Order: sequence, then C-alpha cells, then structure tokens
Amino acid sequence: RIYSRIAGTGSYLPEKVLTNDDLARVVDTSDEWIASRTGIRQRHIAAEGETTGDLAYHAAVRALEAAGVDASEIDLIVLGTTTPDLIFPSTACLLQHRLGANGCPAFDVNAACSGFVYALSVADKFIRSGAAKTALVVGAETLTRMVDWSERTTCVLFGDGAGAVVLKADDDTGILSTHLHADGGKKELLWNPVGVSVGFKENEKNAGVRIRMTGNEVFKHAVKALDAIVDETLDANGLDRHDLDWLIPHQANLRIIEATAKRLDMPMERVIVTVDQHGNTSSGSVPLALDAAIRSGKVQRGQLLLLEAFGGGFTWGSALLRY
Ligand code: ACO
Repeated sequence: RIYSRIAGTGSYLPEKVLTNDDLARVVDTSDEWIASRTGIRQRHIAAEGETTGDLAYHAAVRALEAAGVDASEIDLIVLGTTTPDLIFPSTACLLQHRLGANGCPAFDVNAACSGFVYALSVADKFIRSGAAKTALVVGAETLTRMVDWSERTTCVLFGDGAGAVVLKADDDTGILSTHLHADGGKKELLWNPVGVSVGFKENEKNAGVRIRMTGNEVFKHAVKALDAIVDETLDANGLDRHDLDWLIPHQANLRIIEATAKRLDMPMERVIVTVDQHGNTSSGSVPLALDAAIRSGKVQRGQLLLLEAFGGGFTWGSALLRY
C-alpha cells in the first residue's frame, strides 16, 4: 500500500494585524464580547493588492523548503480556496506558474472552510492510486475581502492567511484515512448570495459580495457534524479516542473546538489553537495551525494527528494521519 506522508509544511500571514480593540473603533463591539464568544483576539488582514495567490505562494515556498523539495518535482497542485484571485484561471494555476512547476495538473477546490481538508483528501487519493508522487496542497484565503465591515455579527470573525503541505508517496505511513461530507440543503445559513451566474447587485456595497451567516444555527450544526465525523474517523481505523496525540481543528470558534475536544476526551493541551491569533481564515486555518504546531516543536514525527473542518455548503471533513 502507498501512503501520502507530509514531507514539509509552511504558512504565511499578512503583516497587518487588526485587534479586537481596533475593530471596536469601527463597529459596536468589544474585546470582551469577541474573546468570550469566539476566543479570537486578533486577525491578520491582507494589504491592498495582496491576493490569495500571494499568500499561497509564500506558504508554498516555505513548505517546499521544509520538505527539501524543488518545485520541478511537484506533480500535482490542489488548492482550497473560496476567495480565488480571479474567476479563472484557478489560483492553483497562477501558483504553479509562479513556482515554476508548469506542466503538472493544478486546480482549486471550493469547499468553504473545509477547503484544505477537501484538497488534502483529493491529493491523497492521487498519491494512493499512483497518479502522483509529490503533491503540493494549499489552503489560502483573503476572506476579509468578502467581509462587510459594518456588520458586527460577521466582521469580527474572519482573517486572511495561507498554509501549505508537501505530500510525498511513502511505503510505511502517512495519511491513514480521510472522510468528506456535504449537505447542500442549508445554504442560507452560511453563504455569499451573489456570483457570476446568479448575478451581482450593482447598487450594493462590494456589488453584494458579503458573508451572510446565522451564527448560532451554524454553531449547532458544526458541533453535531464534527462529533459525528471524529467518531466515523476513529471507527474506520479501529482506534480509541485516547490513541490520538493531537487534534488540529478548523479555527472558527474556541467553543466549537472545546466541544470537539470534549467528545474526544482530549485535554486542551493536546489541541492546537490558533484562532486567538488568526481568527477564522477558512481554508487557511487547518494548515496554518498544523504548520504552527510543527514549527513550535509540539507535533513530532510518528505522532497521530486528527485534522477536521466544517464550513459553508455545509461541508465537513477530517483526515487522520501519522506525521
Ligand atoms: N459584538 C457585540 N455584540 C454582538 C456581536 C459583536 N461582534 N455580534 C453579535 N452580537 C450580539 C447580537 O446582536 C445578539 O444581541 P441580542 O441578543 O441583543 O440580539 C447577541 O450578541 C448574541 O448573538 P448570537 O449570534 O446569538 O451570539 P452567539 O453566542 O451565537 O455567537 C457567533 C455568535 C460567535 C458567530 C457563534 O454563533 C459562532 O461562532 N458560530 C459559528 C461560526 C462558524 O463556525 N462558522 C463556520 C465556518 S465559517 C465559513 O465557512 C466561511
């Protein structure tokens, strides 16, 4: 059997930081409200002209460096994003050219906040089938470009950032299983209601491009779906929840993360939390948290990691892997 193993990780955050206090000067909110409801203290915001592709590029370069892999060795690029630079070509194609990896298949995956876990699962299947040997998987977003800065219920939640992993075919171990789900029946609970085919709203701010969310409903669905998927992942591998070394969850809300950790009977010391520093970076969140955990020395080679995410669609997914 062939596994896909993480050979290296990288991430990138834009320089500009927006704290809760900064936001409290723009909308009717407070550090106390945001921190107690979400765990978020600050988020990074892309500079004017800085795109999802730029963030993806910096994260990818760092991941390639960490893996000791040259761009010419990449034979697949899958990039999770909901905020591509352009409608087309895909951000994966733009990234491929910038890295100098021209020729290999490259495409984007849009699964909102589950984008990275979806992309990782797709790349894993290419490697397992023998169709690729060295894959670059990226989660990158400039989600704040979709934020209505006058709407306090959403603008406090999101940030910009990117993370990347290089996967290499390995005979011994790596990704043990991935699990993906979607339920398109709850569209209006978390969505952006305009688009090329539906049309834009010329007389609205940002042509109608904005995140709309019924937060408390999303919260309930997220906790339920994540509870189910961690059980599904453990069962599929014949594992007990106490076998896991680390939980690396999507960073949307500390209370959702704590609920999943409780389900797994995991102390918070074994859960990677970056939501306080990054906010919700959608597809960027899991690979950013993974890279932070590896670079800080917390996650060690040979350990068992559970990655999970939930997002608009609804979409949700998980990956169980030996690092
Ligand atoms: N500052 C101060 N008050 C606020 C703010 C704010 N930023 N936002 C809302 N409020 C107020 C509301 O107006 C409401 O006031 P009211 O009671 O007078 O009407 C009160 O706070 C409570 O609002 P709720 O929405 O019920 O607050 P809740 O405890 O549910 O927290 C939150 C909201 C943080 C959004 C939470 O529901 C959540 O995290 N949901 C999940 C989000 C998520 O996981 N999204 C998934 C991925 S995102 C993606 O895929 C793009």
